[in-house]
Amino acid sequence: MKRNISLLGLQWGDEGKGKVVDNLAKDLDAAVRYQGGHNAGHTLIVNGKKIVFHLLPSAICHENIKCFIGRGVVVSLDALFSEIKEAEEVLGEIEGRLRISSACSLIQPYHIQLDQLREQSNNLTKIGTTGRGIGTSYEDRVGRRSIRIADLYNEEKLRDKLYQALEFYNSIFKNSFGASQIDLHELLDDNLKQAEDLKPYVGNVIEEIRELQDQDKKILFEGAQGALLDISLGTYPYVTSSNLIGGVSAGVGISPSDIDYTIGITKAYTTRVGEGPFPTELFDEMGTYLAEKGGEVGATTGRPRRCGWLDGFLLNNMVKVSGVNGLCLTKIDVLDGLKKIKICTDYSSAQTKEAIIETMDIEDADPFYLELDGWSEPTAGKTDYDDLNANAKAFVEKIEEISGVPVIMISTGPKREDTIIREKI
Ligand code: GDP
Ligand code: IMO
Ligand code: MG
Repeated sequence: MKRNISLLGLQWGDEGKGKVVDNLAKDLDAAVRYQGGHNAGHTLIVNGKKIVFHLLPSAICHENIKCFIGRGVVVSLDALFSEIKEAEEVLGEIEGRLRISSACSLIQPYHIQLDQLREQSNNLTKIGTTGRGIGTSYEDRVGRRSIRIADLYNEEKLRDKLYQALEFYNSIFKNSFGASQIDLHELLDDNLKQAEDLKPYVGNVIEEIRELQDQDKKILFEGAQGALLDISLGTYPYVTSSNLIGGVSAGVGISPSDIDYTIGITKAYTTRVGEGPFPTELFDEMGTYLAEKGGEVGATTGRPRRCGWLDGFLLNNMVKVSGVNGLCLTKIDVLDGLKKIKICTDYSSAQTKEAIIETMDIEDADPFYLELDGWSEPTAGKTDYDDLNANAKAFVEKIEEISGVPVIMISTGPKREDTIIREKI
């Protein structure tokens, strides 16, 4: 029996992780977010109602599950409190089953302001960030000057750290952007007020996870974003600022060898929000069709998602670097009714494949496609693999061949129960 399961998206995010977690949750005891922040948007349909989680683990929907936010997450307290309030309207009180590591770095208003000013500037490379202060907060973390949750409970230290931060940020705001200044006293007051409200949620996550592991409880480590957005192994610089791949250990405080099984999620096609290369992107009516049928609108920013065919070259590479044991294929139903379906299996490029894999510089990659026959009989809502038509099965099996790992789950619709389980973990 696998007890420590890591789950991550293998594309540029929005693979349907929220829905998959919700389906797996009935068999879990605990769920942990370990990287990213409220840049994530994970959609669940619960009792016909849509819920989007940004910072909270998606498994929080299930009353019996203990939820954690590990030290690798950057936390905006404004975002956290508004999400808790929204979640409690649907789920009832969650205070008793949510613990946040006191080692998490905070996202302060100056992080958000700088992220947005940079993105709006005509002189700087636009990444197309979510504007949530994610990258700027991680910059402070790596620069060893983050304000961590524990600092909120030492007023003198907090004041000093905020003073130092504002000396730096206010000078950039004024001199580089001609933008408004942030007041130290107001910011300190806000932090102190929020610290009180946060107290019941702050905990020693490492210890609590160890206890659960000692009791042989089943724990899911929920990745946000997708492997192609990984700061180290993704399509740099058009990435987010955290490590997804291998990030569980540092982002929670467990050993890398604790992970028993890694489940990777891929859509049956590809989407991307924000800037950056996308070799299989479709600019024709097929792209519009996928966007409309798949409802491809950003769950966090409401931006339209760019759409294209499944990229098997990248999928194979991301499976290998992430140590994925089994795949979950989502949104196969979006392809229902298409006459032909394409999968990119290789690139032609001036660079060698090895060089592409090393740098993930895919600007000039020209995709080579395999064309498969589509199917008219819908997969939508199916729950049994044997009920899929032969062409849909051939598509699934081609993905197994290209990725080198089995497809253990297939998502056939946005609802929890629209799921085919081929192999139970
Ligand atoms: P996440 O960030 O990976 O959790 O994914 P998002 O929630 O941002 O985007 C996935 C979207 O697809 C959401 O609107 C889901 O409700 C929806 N979805 C998830 N799985 C399926 C599926 O198998 N079929 C269809 N049609 N929609 C799905
Ligand atoms: P989920 O968890 C899709 C993208 C942004 C931008 C880049 C950097 O819902 O899959 P950031 O604000 O993180 O500095 O932006 O990363 N991005 C996502 N795209 N899904 C996400 O999360 C994303 N989180 C960040 O669009 O291109
Ligand atoms: Mg999303």
